[in-house]
Amino acid sequence: MNKIAVLTSGGDAPGMNACVRAVIRTGIKLGCEMYVVYEGYKGLVEGRIEQVDRNFVSDIINRGGTIIRSARLPEFKEEAYQKIAIKQLESYGIDSLIVIGGDGTYRGAQALAARGISVVGIPGSIDNDVCSTEACIGFDTAQNTICECVDKLRDTTSSHSRCTFIEVMGNKCGDLALYSGIAEGVEIVISQDHPYDEDKVVEKLKSLKGGKKKHALIIVSEKMFPNIYDLAKNVSERTGIDCRAQVLGHIQRGGAPSARDRILATRYGAEAVRAIIDGQSCIALGLFGDEIKRVPFEEAFNMPKESHKDLMSLLSLVNR
Ligand code: F6P
Repeated sequence: MNKIAVLTSGGDAPGMNACVRAVIRTGIKLGCEMYVVYEGYKGLVEGRIEQVDRNFVSDIINRGGTIIRSARLPEFKEEAYQKIAIKQLESYGIDSLIVIGGDGTYRGAQALAARGISVVGIPGSIDNDVCSTEACIGFDTAQNTICECVDKLRDTTSSHSRCTFIEVMGNKCGDLALYSGIAEGVEIVISQDHPYDEDKVVEKLKSLKGGKKKHALIIVSEKMFPNIYDLAKNVSERTGIDCRAQVLGHIQRGGAPSARDRILATRYGAEAVRAIIDGQSCIALGLFGDEIKRVPFEEAFNMPKESHKDLMSLLSLVNR
C-alpha cells in the first residue's frame, strides 16, 4: 500500500485546496494511506505531518488559500534540511510526496526524489511561471481578480480623464500582465515581454489628449520598476496628464477559485496519485492543450517558457 503525503509550498494560489482535496480523495479511493504536511517544506522539516481521512477535505473545493498552509524555506536547498525531511517522512513510513507549488517547490522536490522518495510536482502559482505547463493552478482566478479591480479603476480613471498605472504580480513572469492587458483592452502593457520605452509611452499618452478617449490604463508587471508611484509622477510631469498608480498586491492571491481552476486542480490532483500508483516518480504534471502530461523533472526545468507571440500580436492589433 502506498503511503502518500501532500504539501503546498511557496505563494498560495486559489485552487490549491481543490487540489489537496482531489489528492486525498483519489488516494483513499485507490487504497492508499494519505497524509498532509502543514506549512510546506518548513513543516516537513519540523515533522508537522498528519494522517487524514476523506472528511478532512470536505467543503474546501470552493475555498481560497490553502488549509494545510504554505511557507517559504530558502534553506531547503541545503542537504542538511533535506536529510531531516527524509527522516521525518521515513518515521511515518511515507514513500511518496506530492508537492503543489512553483519552480522553487519543484527544486526541493527534485532533491527529495534524488534521496529515494517518489515525488510528483503539481504547478500551483498565480504567476504561471512554471515552464512545464501551459496553466498553473490559481492563474485563472488571479486574472479574474485583476479584471474586477481594473474594471473599477477604469471607472474613476475615465471620469477624471486620467492615466492609471496598475501593478500586477508575476514574479518576473509577464503572463498576468499580458493576459489581463488583453482582457481589459488597456492602452499599454509594460512587462518582461514588453520592454519599457518611456519616450514611446509619453508619445502615446500625449496623442490621446487630442482624441475622443481621454483616459488611459497601463498594466505594469511587478519587478519592472522599483517604485510605480515615481513612474506615474515622472510620466505625469512629462505629459501634463494627471497620472495615478495602484499596486494590486496580495488581493490577487486571495478569493474563491474560478470553476476553471477548481477543475484543473482536481485533474492534477487525481493524476498525481495515479502517477505514483503507476510507479512514476520525479515528475511534474503539466497541461498541454487539454491533456495533462507527466514530465520528468530534468526535462521540466529545461523547457523554454511559452513565448505567447500570438497573444502579443493580438495586443498590438486590437488595443490602441
Ligand atoms: O509567487 C507568487 C507571488 O505572489 C509573486 O507574484 C510575488 O512576487 C510573491 O509571491 C510575493 O511573495 P510574498 O507573499 O512572500 O511576499
